[in-house]
Amino acid sequence: GNTRHYKFNIKLQNVTRLCHTKSIVSVNGQFPGPPIIAREGDRVVVKVVNHVQNNVTIHWHGVRQLRSGWADGPAYVTQCPIQTGQTYVYNFTITGQRGTLFWHAHISWLRSTLYGPIIILPKKNVPYPFAKPYKEVPIIFGEWWNTDPETVITQALQNGGGPNVSDAYTINGHPGPLYNCSAQDTFKLKVKPGKTYLLRLINAALNDELFFSIANHTLTVVDVDAIYVKPFKTDTILITPGQTTNLLLKAKPHFPNATFLMAARPYATGRGTFDNSTVAGLLHYEPPPKSSPSAPSFENLPLFKPTLPPLNDTSFAANFTRKLRSLANTQFPANVPQNVDKRFFFTVGLGTNPCPQNQTCQGPNNSTKFSASVNNVSFVLPTTALLQAHFFQQSNGVYTTDFPATPIFPFNYTGTPPNNTMVSNGTKVVVLPFNTSVELVLQDTSILGIESHPLHLHGFNFFVVGQGFGNFDAKKDPPKFNLVDPVERNTVGVPSGGWVAIRFLADNPGAWLMHCHLEVHTSWGLKMAWIVKDGKLPNQKLPPPPSDLPKC
Ligand code: C2O
Repeated sequence: GNTRHYKFNIKLQNVTRLCHTKSIVSVNGQFPGPPIIAREGDRVVVKVVNHVQNNVTIHWHGVRQLRSGWADGPAYVTQCPIQTGQTYVYNFTITGQRGTLFWHAHISWLRSTLYGPIIILPKKNVPYPFAKPYKEVPIIFGEWWNTDPETVITQALQNGGGPNVSDAYTINGHPGPLYNCSAQDTFKLKVKPGKTYLLRLINAALNDELFFSIANHTLTVVDVDAIYVKPFKTDTILITPGQTTNLLLKAKPHFPNATFLMAARPYATGRGTFDNSTVAGLLHYEPPPKSSPSAPSFENLPLFKPTLPPLNDTSFAANFTRKLRSLANTQFPANVPQNVDKRFFFTVGLGTNPCPQNQTCQGPNNSTKFSASVNNVSFVLPTTALLQAHFFQQSNGVYTTDFPATPIFPFNYTGTPPNNTMVSNGTKVVVLPFNTSVELVLQDTSILGIESHPLHLHGFNFFVVGQGFGNFDAKKDPPKFNLVDPVERNTVGVPSGGWVAIRFLADNPGAWLMHCHLEVHTSWGLKMAWIVKDGKLPNQKLPPPPSDLPKC
């Protein structure tokens, strides 16, 4: 492969949205940030220079980082932050992935403005497993706050309440015509009649899963999280924060000059006060070729609008995810672990913490703080990086290795009313020997209401072998697992009031965060970490850190 060099200057930039101008933290003054474009097998070298007052790290979301954990990016997990005036060079190779991923800041809520696409093309002279598209178009969803999102979350954590919801969703940085004062600020995709387009969708929004649809057009899903899937057609897709989806869009042959609306709005099951806002963009057909002057024009037709599912449409969500299957053929096999070395059962959900003395909290029941946990452990980031502590065998005072493999005490996870809200804080990890084959069941809980949680695992792809509603049944459910062509990905929605089962091979030594990709839940502690030990062979070991790795 080739080496692709990039320079990311982190600096402030004035941006105006919804008639508000504010200074945002940006990469090279661009919003959204610049794309990383590489082929499978290429090395990517990104020099990040921090010119702002905030501490910064960048995460290459979904990149496997095989034996390059020092480049993964989550603050206090694989590295200390890049401080003002400092530089860090991220250096990694893209192996076994083709499709779309994205990069984003991985510290506090800085990813609200620091994000951009990662486009992974197949190796040279290797075609797509579908007809070559005429053009490829990134479509990246985000969230916009009129105020500073860093302040929003800092205040929420202090007061123990929920943070303000964002003021708009965006497509490629634009809120679109359905928001106040934003008609001019709309993403427009120009298409030629009859041509096929590859849309590379990325959900970089902080706190919402999204439905997406284009009026009067059928979409064909061909790839998720940079892994090809068996193609299937649908009018609407669901994409959670942290997920990416490649779609084929075939422009109709007979609509010169016509305009259609594309739109996205949340799938949100757990939210009380819901901001029912829709981000929209335009799909605009070019005029007919000059050679056919008599062709009809659709210029003056009313705008076609898509119909999106209701915001709590959990059955759509479940049916959509069930359609996702790996190609699982000889060229693109699905290497699903058939045997399991270690089983884990993790509850994921919200909870409460007592309000600290001398503080007023605005959380549930007035006197509590919001919290979120895995197996009732709310993860606290250490003040030095886990990976350094592990690599240099200095875990004392940084982390403990007693993360519970199953709930501390079992309860009726999806019952009403819930009966277990006790959450404790800790920096606990699971340690895995190299090449452990892991099965993990993620169970949603009804504490403070059921809600879908998009769980993201760093450092690995996993296979989604089963999912269901209610409580997972360790006897009845496993025989129904799909071990043949389950979808392979890095972020999966744990069904609202249900469970999902995943399998992965721990073949990547390092320290790997797993968390809900709803940023508010991550902030409340819905995260944990795996430490995978070195193997015996030289190519099974994590190399020492680069010399410019930031210090805490
Ligand atoms: Cu997209 Cu831990 O992140």
